[in-house]
Amino acid sequence: MRMYDLIMKKRNGGILKENEIYEMIQEYTKGNIPDYQMSAMMMAIYFNGMEEAETLALTMAMAESGDMLNLSKINGVKVDKHSTGGVGDKTSLALTPMVAALGVPVAKMSGRGLGHTGGTIDKLESFPGFSTEISTEHFIKQVNEKGIAIMGQTATLAPADKKLYALRDVTATVDQMSLIASSIMSKKLAAGADAIVLDVKTGSGAFMKEEKDAFSLANEMVRIGNGAGRRTIAVISDMDEPLGNAVGNALEVKEAIDTLKGNGPKDFTELCYTLGTYMLIAGNKAESEAEARQMLEDTVRSGKALDKLAEFIEAQGGNREDVYHPENLCKASIIEEVYADKEGYISKIACDEIGICSLILGGGRETKDSVIDLSVGLVLHAKKGDYVDKNTVLATIHGNSREKINLAKERLLKAYTITDSYNQTKEIIKGVIGI
Ligand code: URA
Repeated sequence: MRMYDLIMKKRNGGILKENEIYEMIQEYTKGNIPDYQMSAMMMAIYFNGMEEAETLALTMAMAESGDMLNLSKINGVKVDKHSTGGVGDKTSLALTPMVAALGVPVAKMSGRGLGHTGGTIDKLESFPGFSTEISTEHFIKQVNEKGIAIMGQTATLAPADKKLYALRDVTATVDQMSLIASSIMSKKLAAGADAIVLDVKTGSGAFMKEEKDAFSLANEMVRIGNGAGRRTIAVISDMDEPLGNAVGNALEVKEAIDTLKGNGPKDFTELCYTLGTYMLIAGNKAESEAEARQMLEDTVRSGKALDKLAEFIEAQGGNREDVYHPENLCKASIIEEVYADKEGYISKIACDEIGICSLILGGGRETKDSVIDLSVGLVLHAKKGDYVDKNTVLATIHGNSREKINLAKERLLKAYTITDSYNQTKEIIKGVIGI
């Protein structure tokens, strides 16, 4: 294989063969193909796309570039869940204990936040003592004993994707459908679940700004998952405004706990119940959507889902009492209300800007090595469609630095568009593929 020939083939609109893709990924992982050639290949794919068979081959080659986790020692149908990322997306925190309480084994690998989107691991670390740095043996044992474990992505899981993602990030080749689909699915396949439920976000805070692109991405990932023998279902959900009200690590944990007590925001609760429904169906715990929904509502009402979260936090080093007393979690020293600067209806919220406000406050990483402040963030009190005037609190900012709060406040006000009317309907769930 000559990398030059492959680049030329793709540049001219050709179709790469399975063996060519495998070899290219293997050699790149070993360091035998330089980044400048792989960058050219990524750009050729960006402009010319990939056929279904090429995308599947790329996914499998990346999945097999490192360890493929063997979860066969875990009893039952393991169902993984993955979100394409967004602002205020604390879904895994509430959803995984719900389904684990209903007998779906949760063996999940999660990531940290980067840029304006948060990560499950950072959020979980709001519980003092909690750690996701556990061995694979501990992970498997805990899932068998407690029904739930979450660990950090190991360095040996899909290393080709790790290298390629970093390269795409700096060569403007992230937002290409086949590249996103293969990147996400390679990690999911390597992580070993039997079935996968995907939450594909669309809107101003998502990679896929347009709904039709989110549906295409969802279709592509469902095809890849099913093609690899894993039952895959995708829910397309709204990310045109932050999910729920809280944005920021400990604040999101508190909102997830409220949701497990049945007091969560409507959009967030609905998303958890919808994803949970398909996890129960894929995990053979429910036969119909109505049955699954009832089971989820019952497990929240009975307190079993909240108890499962407490059991999980304790199993990984945290204090179970923090789940029942989230007021003990870290708090910011300054809490400031931000009022609307005019009267009217909120017609738009620049979702990624809200994520950046949290980042400015210290709740996210500017670089991979930044240390984050788990206590800071925002709680939104007004969302799209709400009528506001100058006495309405749009949001509460939680911060530890006056200077950062001022910057975040200025940006927050600019993120809201207030107009004389608003007549759109809002729906958190846009569609489901693969059921
Ligand atoms: N998330 C990933 O893991 N990969 C992408 O390419 C985009 C989002």
